[in-house]
Amino acid sequence: MHPWSPDVIVTATDGSEQSLRAANAAAALARTNDAQLFIVTVVRPPEGWWGIVGAPPPAESLGNALADAQRAVLEKTVDAIDLTGVRYDTVEEVGEPASQLASFAQANDADLVVIGQRGAGLVERIVVGSVADRLVHIATMPVLVVP
Ligand SMILES: Nc1ncnc2c1ncn2[C@@H]1O[C@H](COP(=O)(O)OP(=O)(O)OP(=O)(O)O)[C@@H](O)[C@H]1O
Ligand SMILES: [Mg+2]
Repeated sequence: MHPWSPDVIVTATDGSEQSLRAANAAAALARTNDAQLFIVTVVRPPEGWWGIVGAPPPAESLGNALADAQRAVLEKTVDAIDLTGVRYDTVEEVGEPASQLASFAQANDADLVVIGQRGAGLVERIVVGSVADRLVHIATMPVLVVP
């Protein structure tokens, strides 16, 4: 077998501390392997959001709020990590996070996905986050889970 070396790396960010650590590890791996890095954030569609807030806000303001939040997550991530010498793109997807991440990674021939063990969901959870858990089960390439 050839020695394994990633050419394309995907990192998943929700803006949480853990996802920033994952992104930082992904950037370092991209640098040392001269790989392309995709920094991806996924926003759940409005239906899911309605369930959390209880009532649907006006579609227009919801759309803007989600788009703004998504952009802020990417900016926060890019600002937090060392991307010196790294070829990278930021990517915004809409849908169920784990399946969107898996299909984006597959469509872009990613050799590695780097994800936080936990995310922005709950501060003190004991188990691995549901996005990370699902992704590990459905991904078709290696997944690095960063605690
Ligand atoms: N919407 C998202 N877009 C991109 N990456 C995400 C998203 N949500 C989570 N992630 C990635 O998954 C990692 C683990 O987060 P996850 O959502 O699984 O845990 P959690 O937020 O603690 O729990 P839960 O969401 O199940 O309440 C994050 O560190 C981040 O890398
Ligand atoms: Mg979460």
